[in-house]
Amino acid sequence: GTPETVTPTGATTGVPAPAKAQQGPYLTTAQGARLRDTDHSLKAGPRGPILMQDHHFREKIMHFDHERIPERVVHARGAGAHGVFEGYGTAEGMTRAGFLKKGKKTDVFVRFSTVLGSRGSADTARDTRGFATKFYTDEGTFDLVGNNIPVFFIQDGIKFPDVIHAGKPHPDREIPQAQSAHDTFWDFVSLHTEAQHHTMWNMSDRGIPRSYRTMEGFGVHTFRLVNAAGETVLAKFHWKPKLGVHSLTWEESQMLAGMDPDYHRRDLYDAIEAGAYPEWELGIQVFPDTPDETFEGIDLLDPTKIVPEELAPVQPIGKMTLNRTPTNFFAEVEQVAFHLGHLPPGIDVTNDPLFQARLFSYLDTQITRLGGPNFSQIPINRPHAAVNDMFRDGLHQHAVHAGVAPYRPNSLDGGNPFVAGDEENAFVDVPVKVAEASKVRANPVSFDDHYSQARLFWQSMSPVEKEHIIRAYTFELGKCYEQAIKERQLQCLANIDPLLCQEVATGLGLPAPEPTVPLADVVPSPALSQVGKEWPAD
Ligand code: HEM
Repeated sequence: GTPETVTPTGATTGVPAPAKAQQGPYLTTAQGARLRDTDHSLKAGPRGPILMQDHHFREKIMHFDHERIPERVVHARGAGAHGVFEGYGTAEGMTRAGFLKKGKKTDVFVRFSTVLGSRGSADTARDTRGFATKFYTDEGTFDLVGNNIPVFFIQDGIKFPDVIHAGKPHPDREIPQAQSAHDTFWDFVSLHTEAQHHTMWNMSDRGIPRSYRTMEGFGVHTFRLVNAAGETVLAKFHWKPKLGVHSLTWEESQMLAGMDPDYHRRDLYDAIEAGAYPEWELGIQVFPDTPDETFEGIDLLDPTKIVPEELAPVQPIGKMTLNRTPTNFFAEVEQVAFHLGHLPPGIDVTNDPLFQARLFSYLDTQITRLGGPNFSQIPINRPHAAVNDMFRDGLHQHAVHAGVAPYRPNSLDGGNPFVAGDEENAFVDVPVKVAEASKVRANPVSFDDHYSQARLFWQSMSPVEKEHIIRAYTFELGKCYEQAIKERQLQCLANIDPLLCQEVATGLGLPAPEPTVPLADVVPSPALSQVGKEWPAD
């Protein structure tokens, strides 16, 4: 018989499913009326004018006029691919998340991106890269919305508009596109010194990756994992590329931006089409869930800090393989919507103030970007788990929901949809104790150190990586018009490392200032350097 429409909840509606779009022996209007001619508008005589009554003309142009949707407010430029994730089972004692069980395979979609450039900007600009993964798990979608840099510019999400306004092109000239080489960027990061650590990563070779396939990914925030017994640990997520970590040189990135602005997009697509499927191992750093949420003196809720892998090794928990390119860029890469609140049972949030802010922001922006509240029905966003959410109506509603009682409890449509005893398979918020404290607009003092981890990063670099960092600061700061901004950033560099400051100051033709903070000793972390960081031989 005629196939029926299946709603996002998996229910059939009795309504015949529409014929497959854009197939069939002849062209039609959007209403299915067969067309004889789509190349000529209906005119009053061969020389016109065009007649208002030409519905086909108006429908075709109307649809075209609305083909573009707003680009993402950040991460507008991206590329994506489908794949599969396979759990190793090594995290089973720590989280009850079913997709991490040994041998369990789960479909994924990944979107890589730059942060600051517009949709048409060059792939190889110096910038942070987004690394967002949608796991279509049996227990609901899990979105791991990370970056290729393990720390962030700010400690509290209320400052996100500030850092992005400073990093985006100047409001008057709309330049530069996707680069940190301008006054507002350096004005912000030098005034707002918690940004110095992330900025150092941007100025390193990590800011110009060779390929999406050779990037690490980081969940950045600390998450809380909970196992079947209700026991918790704190954890940070890491993606390790099987191909190792590789970067471009600055000269390569500049030339490629002109010769092939789609370099990373092309590389990902070509590799997958050629059968060279990129792979990453997912790993976690695990910390005891102590009341102070610190580890070795590092505040785990401060997203400007890493925990060196020497102190907490990354434990592999699964592998992702990207093996299919999108069929339609718009439908998949543009319309995909990630959200940190999309969590399966076994993975929960922490009170990191950046994490908390993000839990609001993504859902909010997507209402505008994807035109209303029903974007979870867009094919790329549909969960692979059954959905039974009682939501109704709204702009762009595609489901024909059956039943008369989208509320509970009810006595008409099967009553209470919860099966007794089934709660144990549900997402349960970990009953973490909330601090007994007064409301404040403030950070904990443990967030105050803005320089020692930037110093740790610098000290961990090989001589050639240090040389690249010096040249990057010199080039990018050299583009500033305001000398006071350059001087203020040199002061920050002096507080990180006097040698680094001296070299950049010489390059800029300015005096090197003295540090204004005590230069605490750090133990370099070999894991931070990309030199020699290849995938171990099988
Ligand atoms: C988009 C990562 C902080 C707001 C994205 C994307 C990634 C990402 C990867 C692109 C998603 C995609 O490909 O569709 C991060 C990381 C952060 C961070 C790792 C810090 C650890 C923030 C903060 C806010 C924010 C603090 C706001 C308070 C947004 C918005 C989008 C976005 C509005 C656009 C989403 C869309 O249009 O669908 N972020 N972000 N981000 N981010 Fe963040």
